[in-house]
Amino acid sequence: MCGIIGIVLSSSKALSKNLGRVIRECLKNLEYRGYDSVGFAIVSSEGLIIRKSKGKIDEVVSKLSFDEFDGIYGVGHTRWATHGRPSDVNAHPQTDCSGKVAVVHNGIIENYMELRDALISRGHEFRSETDTEVIAHLIEEYKRLGMSSYDAFKKAVTHLRGSYAVAVIDVDDPGKIFFARNTSPLVIGISREAKFLSSDIPAFLDYSRDVIVLNDDELGYISKDAIVIEKLVDKDLRLEFDRVPPKTEFIDYRLRVRHIDWTPEMAKKGGYPHFMLKEIHEQPRAVADTLISISKELDNIVKLLSKADRVLLIGSGTSYHAALVGSLLLNELAYVKSHALISSEVRWFINSIDDDDVVIAISQSGETIDTLLAVRDVRGKGALTIALTNVIDSTLARESHLSIYTRAGPEIGVAATKTYVAQVATLSYLAISLGGYMGTLDSNKASELKSELSLIPEVMSTTISTCEPRARVISGVIGTKHSMYYLGRGLGLPTSMEGALKLKEIAYIHAEAYPAGESKHGPIALVDEGFPVAFTVLGDEAELIVSNVEEMKARGAWTLAVVPKGFEKSVKLFDYIFELRRISYELAPIVYIIPYQLLAYYTAVTLGYDPDKPRNLAKTVTVV
Ligand code: F6R
Repeated sequence: MCGIIGIVLSSSKALSKNLGRVIRECLKNLEYRGYDSVGFAIVSSEGLIIRKSKGKIDEVVSKLSFDEFDGIYGVGHTRWATHGRPSDVNAHPQTDCSGKVAVVHNGIIENYMELRDALISRGHEFRSETDTEVIAHLIEEYKRLGMSSYDAFKKAVTHLRGSYAVAVIDVDDPGKIFFARNTSPLVIGISREAKFLSSDIPAFLDYSRDVIVLNDDELGYISKDAIVIEKLVDKDLRLEFDRVPPKTEFIDYRLRVRHIDWTPEMAKKGGYPHFMLKEIHEQPRAVADTLISISKELDNIVKLLSKADRVLLIGSGTSYHAALVGSLLLNELAYVKSHALISSEVRWFINSIDDDDVVIAISQSGETIDTLLAVRDVRGKGALTIALTNVIDSTLARESHLSIYTRAGPEIGVAATKTYVAQVATLSYLAISLGGYMGTLDSNKASELKSELSLIPEVMSTTISTCEPRARVISGVIGTKHSMYYLGRGLGLPTSMEGALKLKEIAYIHAEAYPAGESKHGPIALVDEGFPVAFTVLGDEAELIVSNVEEMKARGAWTLAVVPKGFEKSVKLFDYIFELRRISYELAPIVYIIPYQLLAYYTAVTLGYDPDKPRNLAKTVTVV
């Protein structure tokens, strides 16, 4: 995830500030979308000025003196690295060979390798490791073939597969900022003094509240006097380098302008009351972006894992729960000896770790000290280490032999949500691929699971919208309780553990998860009239759970369940249910955690707590 901004002033005096300063202010409002490098391109009377650098916004703007640059139009970018590590050269804007075209981009161009190779063979020289740079060279190539700048831009967009919001300056067509959107968000802001393009409304909220939200496959430009929006009618991914402009339909932008009355604080959260709720809603996108990017990265890792004697997955808190899901799937689908360990406990297993082991270290932040220390210990014993993290170039990534990156975008709420589902989706993909590669999973079954996985983001969206009203209602009951159990079997256990962690973290209600079959060996002693027990039922294990529910009900428990549709005994067994679409058991952890996240969130809100900043907790724990 990155933040992009484009600004065209109506006159050189508009907004009464240097353009560099306005870009800086807008980028600061987008900082939550990424903060590993920053840059801008401004067109002034002296021509195109580009400044960019690795680092956080506050450091970079003073280092590069953003505020001193003035001009009439320009673009800016704050980066969350996906392709290419954070560095000065990989920071945006990215340019073509001539240095006339400057591009800022948010998203992932899936077919960038293919485009890059084709452009290199036509003489283009690439400087960065980014996927974005192909856009600048594609535009340049079509201009070389004789197209106008704007047609060349439109033509370039037709070749892009993946997600993108782009803003482009081409000095050969002065005064305009071209834009295009597919999947990644992009909005236009309008005021008397300026027009804005941005990844999100808060960027320009101090200047404009009249907005146009762009839709997929829309492109166009803003200039001092115009807003042009067109819809691409056909997307031609073939790279034949002909000069036929793409077919588009013009859109009357005046019909799309809406006035918003958000406060800047509300807007940063995209209209949601808390980052946590926003991030729960971002989960389908987090999983989709992660799946797109890992599907190309994991081949090598699959081969390495196939040779390992044992695969250990380590992590803390929520990341440990992802490790549990991963180890169960590796055992089940790939018949690999695999165990999950809590990072801070790894030292007690160190004597048995050796160079036949592979250790997958999971951490959204990549900075958790317990996980870093464990990685150092196991490396010392010769194990191969693979980081699974959401932060490119984090300490964990740098200290591990190899890295896999989730693409959830920055997570601001302290309680992990979207990074967890992205981790689980990655490990599911890995286990299915390894099972297919090792032949323990029938190749048809592996393909079926992968196709189903690609549809999971859609299922997640529906699940969020159907579970949210129910979570609000049930939170009223949970908010009156002091303690709660979450029970499940198999993959339902880590899902229960994660559900319990969320409730205790943000609603401060004691919650414990147990294997359902284990509940009768002690925990049941606490259960009396009205004691809440949540059951996680993912699919095949449903019948095994029935007797555990009956045991609890016989002691007066108040029962809640997350169950797949069609589980006939639900009505008889449970006081409240979240009924979810039935999906393969192996993939259910990615989706079935959603009701628990929403339940914890609404319970915290009902009780008057701030779910974004739970007491005593920090987003990144760097102490042992
Ligand atoms: C739970 C939570 C913590 C983290 C844990 C590990 O909502 O946020 O339990 O999961 O501190 O953090 P990372 O994944 O950054 O290593």
